[in-house]
Amino acid sequence: MNTSKTKNKYQIAVVPGDGIGKEVMEATIFVLDELDIDFDYVYGEAGDECGQKNGNPLPEETLDIIRNADACLFGAAGETAADVIVKIRQEMKMYANLRPVKTYPNTNALFDDVDFMIVRENTEGLYIADQEELTEDGAIAKRIITRKAEERIIDYAFNYAKENNKSKVTGVHKANVLKKSDGLFKDVFYEVAERYPEIETEDFYVDATAMYLITQPQSFEVIVTTNLFGDILSDEGAGLVGGLGVIPSANIGEDGALFEPVHGSAPDIAGEGKANPIAMMLSAIMMLRYIGENEEADKFDAAILKVLNDGKILTRDLGGSSSTMEVAEAIKNNL
Ligand code: NAI
Ligand code: MG
Repeated sequence: MNTSKTKNKYQIAVVPGDGIGKEVMEATIFVLDELDIDFDYVYGEAGDECGQKNGNPLPEETLDIIRNADACLFGAAGETAADVIVKIRQEMKMYANLRPVKTYPNTNALFDDVDFMIVRENTEGLYIADQEELTEDGAIAKRIITRKAEERIIDYAFNYAKENNKSKVTGVHKANVLKKSDGLFKDVFYEVAERYPEIETEDFYVDATAMYLITQPQSFEVIVTTNLFGDILSDEGAGLVGGLGVIPSANIGEDGALFEPVHGSAPDIAGEGKANPIAMMLSAIMMLRYIGENEEADKFDAAILKVLNDGKILTRDLGGSSSTMEVAEAIKNNL
């Protein structure tokens, strides 16, 4: 009886969170609904408001919703963001943090032709809070580098390059000073590279990379690095391509994947319809690619590009005066 083309059905956990998280999520679902994909959305609560209501900013029920879904869209949390997001990443073993650094027109980008991906290790390195301790003299933080976790993230980066027609992967470390830990990272980088002979490789020290991101950002395609370096370089990348309103991210793991804008709940503009929904939408596009819906992702991306190129319907952060939903409608009309 089914006369239309069979659509894949996906279960998506939707966690709008606080402040503008709710507004940009509504705008994004509004456009997703127009695509030729069958989504089953399951809404979950998390964040400050949820904490006030339920006594817990990340209820077990929400974690279950995320666990059972094919992917999760997350808006933003407020003051509880660190607890909520870090806990979800840990629970779902989301070891890869992906931050695309790509120029879109009519944004506050420093360069008009940048397009690379930063793949950051998300589970070890210097960011292991329970490994920090106070001592008589001050404090000590341990930096953990395991062969297993680094091999997993480096392989993820090479595989990403292969699947997305990127020709080069850059490994970033500080092996001249951190001879043992980053020495291991560098060794593993070249071991994994051997499995991908078609992909060009290079490695740089993190300090030099910080400079190259400014002097020759066009030369990068995929960067893979450890936790702290990746955190810093990805914010530098965000600065290159202009504005929190257009920067998406992904957290990918063994037990699930979560897609979220880099920005927070923006209490200064929350509830006023001024938030730019594009960062959330670009995060949703990363989700579409993750579940394999590349054609629909391209379509959505092209519609955003068209609206940005036209430059008529933009939110305030991009110099316009349109509302969140006006931007969403313009994008939907361009699909
Ligand atoms: P923020 O990203 O919420 O806002 C920084 C500035 O950028 C504000 O002026 C805001 O109006 C503007 N901005 C952010 N996103 C925008 C958008 N889509 N369109 C237009 N303008 C936008 O960061 P802030 O102010 O440091 O933190 C506010 C709250 O958000 C805090 O409670 C913080 O803990 C939380 N936060 C949550 C994150 C998450 O859920 N992943 C990440 C960062 C912050
Ligand atoms: Mg950061």
